[in-house]
Formats: sequence, structure tokens, C-alpha cells
Amino acid sequence: MAQDVRNATRPYGGYDRRPSTTPDRELAEVGRGTPAGEYLRRFWQPVALAADIKDLPVPITILGEELVVFRDRSGALGLLERHCSHRRTSLEFALIVDHGLRCAYHGWHYGVDGALLDVPGEKVPGALASRMYHGAYPVREFRGLVFAYMGPPDQRPPFPDYDFMHHDEEEYLPFCWHNPCNWVQLRENTQDPIHLTFLHSMFDVQQFGDYAYDLPVIQACETPIGQITTSVRRVHDLYYCRVNELILPNIARVPDGIRLGDAIPENMAGEPGRRQAIELRYRRQLPSSHGLGLSTWIVPNDDFNAMHMGWLHLSPKWSEKARADYLATITFGQTGERSYEERHRNPGDWDAWVAQGRMAIQANENLTAADAGIALFRRQLRAGIRAVQAGERPKGMRAEGEGVCQTYGYALTRPAPCLPDEGAEWAAKQDYAQEMQQDILARRAPALDRMLEPA
Ligand code: FES
Ligand SMILES: [Fe+2]
Repeated sequence: MAQDVRNATRPYGGYDRRPSTTPDRELAEVGRGTPAGEYLRRFWQPVALAADIKDLPVPITILGEELVVFRDRSGALGLLERHCSHRRTSLEFALIVDHGLRCAYHGWHYGVDGALLDVPGEKVPGALASRMYHGAYPVREFRGLVFAYMGPPDQRPPFPDYDFMHHDEEEYLPFCWHNPCNWVQLRENTQDPIHLTFLHSMFDVQQFGDYAYDLPVIQACETPIGQITTSVRRVHDLYYCRVNELILPNIARVPDGIRLGDAIPENMAGEPGRRQAIELRYRRQLPSSHGLGLSTWIVPNDDFNAMHMGWLHLSPKWSEKARADYLATITFGQTGERSYEERHRNPGDWDAWVAQGRMAIQANENLTAADAGIALFRRQLRAGIRAVQAGERPKGMRAEGEGVCQTYGYALTRPAPCLPDEGAEWAAKQDYAQEMQQDILARRAPALDRMLEPA
């Protein structure tokens, strides 16, 4: 029977509330055979940092499956079911050998593809190997991330190939941050740009420039591979449109903040005077897929833990100090490593999404128009899940031979007129957002150029 879910409707009416206790399991659960678990398994996922794979097998849990990832002595990467096919001890204790690894307990030898290369004690050598494999998944290393495909072998899609993976002029800094909560609430964060105005602006640590104070006009629309959520704010005499892109099922492109002065966003903590004095010198941003920012995957470890991983895109032209300042700003609040006192006084993204609960219960939320990107993501997720269930190709799934996939993340400014009142300002921002969305979707480069001012 459906739960009677109610808000309080009178002052001091806490007792009247009827909160739901039921999460949206169709979207949230990720184990084998669950709707979202089967959907996510149809895509390559980053599962580890290459730098973490040294001379010992590394135990990891991905999509609820206990695994070990390792590099054998020939340099080949392997991702195997963690528990030995013989008597189930953990292969994290196995000995890495020239090809594959050998279980610590009774010496079964596995290849990176799960082949049984040696089964000591067998009456007929090779008998088991002729009829079984140990569980293994294909893995591939790319720019410091190890990706795996954990779906049906005969449905393996091509390796991810997005434009943001091909900027040799940039430095790709791989990262992997752990979050003790469900993957959906993490992924929703990038499509929730209103939180810049509050979470990232109200406290002592200002993660973005003073533009973030302006309450944005937020709109979301579908792209061929997912969605974009646009937020338009006034920055002095400009409108700044930040486009957060979500690529189904679990990738986001997060544009840089507006570049200030020396082209590096500055952390202006505790310096309100300086904040006032900042002048925008850069009148345009390149499309972020050809610039900087973050490319992120949210990869569930299980139903209650997920990794935020991907690349920070850095410029090799930055000075050491500029690089350090940028990293300090962009990574602020992304992990639980700060003390509770620090997080309590200056909460970051990590604190907000983890505090939504181990598995957030969407039925207890009250969304507004500013949550358009989140609502769209949930609809898209459900559609993708159901497409897989129906044996169809889900949105965002690439086919062999399609080539590099163009993405849609941008951050652009245009001159803003002086308008008489808030209503006119809001309408002008809405018009700009719609025009931006149409141009981005149609890839009307000339129109984009027209909107740009010379630097
Ligand atoms: S448990 Fe691994 S070889 Fe026996
Ligand atoms: Fe944030």
C-alpha cells in the first residue's frame, strides 16, 4: 500500500509530518539484477586510479560486487571476482605472477581473463579449466583511470570516446573521492546549480567569484546524450550562462567558474573588500569541452557508497602557485577529510550530499522550478533503465564506428542591458538561457560567436 506522505501544514506542526521511509529503489539500487544495476552495467565505468595499482592486488567493490584489480608482471591489468573459485578466500592476498595471479591459499592460478591456468591437486590436469572460468571483467587504462565493463560480454559497447578526453594540451589530473551515500544524490548535485548561491557563497569560504551571489535563472533541456542545465546570472554588465552537462548515465561536465584577473578563480575567503574590488577582465569563456573544469563519473560501490571520480583539467601554463590555488579552490569540500568542526562551520558539497542520508528518500523532497535539472535527470534515468529492461538501446549508449562524441558543456557570457526592474531582468535571463540552449543544441557556432565579446 502506498505510504501517506505529508508535510507539516501548520506552525509547530512537526508531529503532523508523515515522512516516507521508501527510497526510489528503481533508480538507487545497483546490485546484479536490479533495474539501475543492469542499466549501469551496460556502460564502461572508471573503477580505480591507475596510480593505486602497484605490486599487490587491490580489493575494490563496484556495483555491489567484491573484486580485485591488479597489474600482473607482464603489465596486463586484471579485474577478477574477489573470492577464489576454489574455497573462496580473498584474492587480495594472492601472489601476482608473470601472467595473472596465484591464490594465496592453495595456489590456483588465474589469468586476467579469468582462465584457470593451473589448478594444483586436480586428478586430470586441465579438467576444470576446460569447463569453467573465474569471474573476470575487461579493463582498460586511460589517462590515469582504470575503466571496466561489467555487463553482458556480448553487449559490450565501444570504449568511451568523448571530446573532453582528447585535449593533449591540458593536464589531466585523475581523482577518486569516496562518499558514504547512494550514487543518485551525488550525480544530481551538478544539475543543481542554485546551490552555488547558497552552499558555496554563504559561508566564509567562497568557492566561486562574486557572480555566484546572483540568484540564477535555471532551465534544463535534453541533449542527444543526456541533458544540459543552464544557470544565468548577472555579473556586473554581463550575463553569465553556466552550462552543466550530464551525459547519461552517470557522467557530468562541470565548467570552470568565470575566470578572474589572472584567469584563475580565486578563493576570496574572509576578504569581502577584495571581493568587491575584483574586476572581470575576461569577457568570454571557451566552450568548456575545449577548456578546463572537471569531467566526473559517479560510480556506485554499492547501494550506500559511491566514488566521485574523473579528471581535473589543468593548464600546464599555470604557475605553481596558480595551480595550487586552483586545486585548493576546486577541491574544497569534496571529501570528508576535514574535521567535523571545519565541515560544520564551512560545509562543502560532500557535507550536503552525504547529509541527505545513506540513500536519500526522494518522496520526502519538495522540488521547485530551480530543480528542473534534477527532475529531468530522474526521468531520463528511469527511461534508460526501462529501455535496457525492454532490450532497447538506452540514450547515451554509443555504437561502434560513431567516432568522437561531441559534448555540450559551456560557460559563456554576453553583454547585459540595464533593465528597469527585477521582472524585466528575470525575463531577459530566461530569453538568454533559451537562446543559449537552442544554439548549443543546434551547434550554431556563428551564433555562439556573435554572443561573445572580445577578451
Ligand atoms: S581458496 Fe584459493 S586456491 Fe584454495
Ligand atoms: Fe557544489
